[in-house]
Amino acid sequence: MSDKPVADDLTNAGPGWGALAPRARFTTTLPSMSLNGTWSFAWWPSRVDAPADVWTHAETYSSWESIPVPSSWSMPIHGYGAPNYTNRRYPFPLTPPFPPDANPTADHLLRFDVEPEFLRGARLRFDGIDSAGEVWFNGQCLGTTRGSRLPSEFDVSPLLRQTDNVLLVRVSQYSAASYLEDQDMWWLPGIFRDVTLLSTPPGAVEDVFVRTAFSDGHGLISVDVSGADGSRIDAESTIAELKTVNLTGDLMDIGPVRGWSAETPRLYELTVTTAHETISIPIGFRTVEVVDAELRLNGRPIVLKGVNRHEHHPDFGRAVPREVVVDELKLMKQHNINAIRTSHYPPRPDMLDLADELGFYVIDECDFETHGFQLADWRANPTDDPAYRDALVDRMSRMIERDKNHPSIIMWSLGNEAGTGTNIEAMAAAARSRDASRLIHYEGEWASTQVDVYSRMYATHQEVELIGRFEEPPLEEIDADAHRRTLPFVLCEYVHAMGNGPGGLTEYQELFERYPRLAGGFVWEWLEHGIRRSPDDAGFAYGGDFGEVVHDGNFVIDGLVSADRRPRPGLLDFKKVIEPIRMTIDDSWGRLSIVNMHDFVDLSTFDVEWRVDTIDGTVVRGSLPPIECPPHESTTIPIPRGEEMHRIWADSATMIMSVVTRHATAWCSAGHEIAWAQSRHPNSPGHPTPAAAAIIATSSPDGKLRLGAGEFDLQTGELVLLGGIPVSGPELQLWRAPTDNDRGKGDRRRPVPSDIRWREDGLDRLVQRRASTVIEQDRIDVEYMVAAPGDDREIAFDLSWTCRDDGRLALDVRVRPDEGWTGTWPRIGVVMVFAHEFTTSSWVGSGPGPKYPDTGQATRWGRHTLSVSELSTPYVRPQENGSRADVTAVSLDDGRRSLLIEGRAFSFSARHWSTADLTRIDHVDLLAPDGNTYVELDFAQHGIGTAACGPGPLSAYDLEPHAVEARILISASDIGASA
Ligand code: GAL
Repeated sequence: MSDKPVADDLTNAGPGWGALAPRARFTTTLPSMSLNGTWSFAWWPSRVDAPADVWTHAETYSSWESIPVPSSWSMPIHGYGAPNYTNRRYPFPLTPPFPPDANPTADHLLRFDVEPEFLRGARLRFDGIDSAGEVWFNGQCLGTTRGSRLPSEFDVSPLLRQTDNVLLVRVSQYSAASYLEDQDMWWLPGIFRDVTLLSTPPGAVEDVFVRTAFSDGHGLISVDVSGADGSRIDAESTIAELKTVNLTGDLMDIGPVRGWSAETPRLYELTVTTAHETISIPIGFRTVEVVDAELRLNGRPIVLKGVNRHEHHPDFGRAVPREVVVDELKLMKQHNINAIRTSHYPPRPDMLDLADELGFYVIDECDFETHGFQLADWRANPTDDPAYRDALVDRMSRMIERDKNHPSIIMWSLGNEAGTGTNIEAMAAAARSRDASRLIHYEGEWASTQVDVYSRMYATHQEVELIGRFEEPPLEEIDADAHRRTLPFVLCEYVHAMGNGPGGLTEYQELFERYPRLAGGFVWEWLEHGIRRSPDDAGFAYGGDFGEVVHDGNFVIDGLVSADRRPRPGLLDFKKVIEPIRMTIDDSWGRLSIVNMHDFVDLSTFDVEWRVDTIDGTVVRGSLPPIECPPHESTTIPIPRGEEMHRIWADSATMIMSVVTRHATAWCSAGHEIAWAQSRHPNSPGHPTPAAAAIIATSSPDGKLRLGAGEFDLQTGELVLLGGIPVSGPELQLWRAPTDNDRGKGDRRRPVPSDIRWREDGLDRLVQRRASTVIEQDRIDVEYMVAAPGDDREIAFDLSWTCRDDGRLALDVRVRPDEGWTGTWPRIGVVMVFAHEFTTSSWVGSGPGPKYPDTGQATRWGRHTLSVSELSTPYVRPQENGSRADVTAVSLDDGRRSLLIEGRAFSFSARHWSTADLTRIDHVDLLAPDGNTYVELDFAQHGIGTAACGPGPLSAYDLEPHAVEARILISASDIGASA
């Protein structure tokens, strides 16, 4: 940087100034000192309010407030300003390089003493300042920081003293650089990552670049050490002494090693010793390459089973406590996830240490997105503006320099959704010239001229299949098309985990496994970005909850786990869909077929356990002898039928085979299940077909109309009491509280969101007209016509009540839409409202989690028990949820009364609030029990899909209006009676 810019020039589109050359972050024996802690803090809603003379202002620090560093100051827990959320749209005008006047700004000040050893030379390291920092130290401005999620180091050697150092960092929320940081997330200013003082005496190592590769079982390595004074430099790894250092380029064969992979994250330790220090760097041997349009690691094709990971905490914003990160990465591993895209910026540095250790394939993404310019047809897009070139190349270099030694990183990503332009080319060129050992990724340029993988987001199954078959429509440019056809394909985002869903996982996975060109994908996204408004907030805030004028609502609540890292049902389904071992139990339970989908691990390193469950609760378990099956191979073995298994053979219900870890690992305990298969024995009492009702007479000695457990209105024939509990319904219900996916834009097949079409059809406000009631000795028949106000299409809805000789009330339901109905319906079912709060549910069917036509892969068939509250999934914005499928019997009780409903493979849900409330209320904590239990019995449901961003349900899961006939049996009992 030739001319030193004025310290506070927030309109400068260039990189920050004053920082030292970027370098790797490594562990050294030279001392370091954390400057995290409580800092003095002064805040202004706008930069113009902040005193211009920074250093004079520093003198007033004793009257300031205080804040922890790291922190995101606008989080409610700190309370300076408020968080604001936008997806694409910038929250300020598109007038680069100008930030808005309303630019929250804060001074952070720390006074500290140091040990004498730091006085021989030291630097300050900031791991992340969002977004524009101006660093002052002992009276001088050291420079500025740009690139919120990237480190900046400043030399403090000439200014450092042993006592009473004063460090002041003025941070503004917006600057010219904000135009490069339009990621879909909260805008959260602050010094949100670690601040460290590093001892760097003369002769200290400046940087280390370790390149490794793996070939035919051998490790290859080159170690490039820079900056040391050269007196003595030894590099040694736990495998071999490396006689040569400063090998800039040529890799040296160091003999047999074990390769690094996400399945076998074998790390060795490299130490670099100089006269002044010993540096240690964990290294892994692996080669990433593209061969025949396949993504290969150490010579084997791999499939990425990934998630997009943002850094967010519901209380602390971007300042996520380390233990939360450790736990979340373990949670990913426990759910068979093998890859992470660091959407959309380099992660905190220690996350990559964990990725190396636990085993993840990482796409490390640059801190760069300009998506909002798309709304202006990409006019003035910084991606194509020379004024931003240095800043963008600087960002790319800083990411690569910081992270270059991590074996987990297999691709460098130039950024996200930033359109195209010459700066993309400059970034790609910078990356290639520094590190040719990893692939370059960028989704924003579909022609893929600058990259090594063809990457897309939210492509439909059909399109992905075409790409898998190399049959995608050609590009106009012949050379570009030829190049793209040599590339493997990655879905850097797919299946949008927003609310109930995502649907369609299984079918994507099938494609990834069928076509070698398809290298897998990354679910959008791992984590919801909800914010707790107070420590005891029972729900989470989303866009608009902080009074933002411009915001994108709950589009930021779209994760496989909640903001406090609780798995949503979608995570459990994803785990099942991507399980690394596929098993099938044959119908006679005689043979088990196994496909080992691992790339590097033999099946014999796991245990295979079986269990047989009968519906009455008997369980028999055992384990199989170790099974040899190399990666990518399959085998079939006999299932030994021991005595015990024999004993319950005849009436047994289900068999489950589980593959579990034999030993504890860094991310799970021994016995952790990674894959399973279930088979229902042909003799199992699976789907009883309720026999035709044996009729007994209706009894009404007291003038009331009774049939089994039901009491009916004498005039209308409508049910009024069941088991003594006041009840209304059953009413026909076609509506469901729209899911985020129902509200999504849909796809080409259905450009209008489903919920809008359903509302246009009046499904949310159907009214019924009783057309006839026939009460006979032994049955009650009530016929309704159901239609929407203002609509002439009707649905005949008939209920026939009879009673079996065992006392069970039988209900025959008939639904017959007239021909005018087209499109889809959300569901076909009935709802009954009990003026009573049932507390527990127990059912025979799929569970324990919810299941819709295209979700619920994680569910198993059997008997399940949950409280009625646990049946609901607390999605942040209420929506249809919690339906249990394939049910043959469900009992609801409260310890005093119980109700048993039996039928043939229906779905049920039970809640303490209505579907109308679920539709109307926009935050889960506002849903309140109203004293009733709403029991929904569904005979069909529309698929879930992933239209919140991406394709809607596949056509196989469409629910088209059609006639339904169903029979259910109902019995009720008081205390102690069996359910
Ligand atoms: C993508 C984007 C993500 C996120 C997602 C939808 O376009 O890259 O950042 O916005 O859509 O949630």
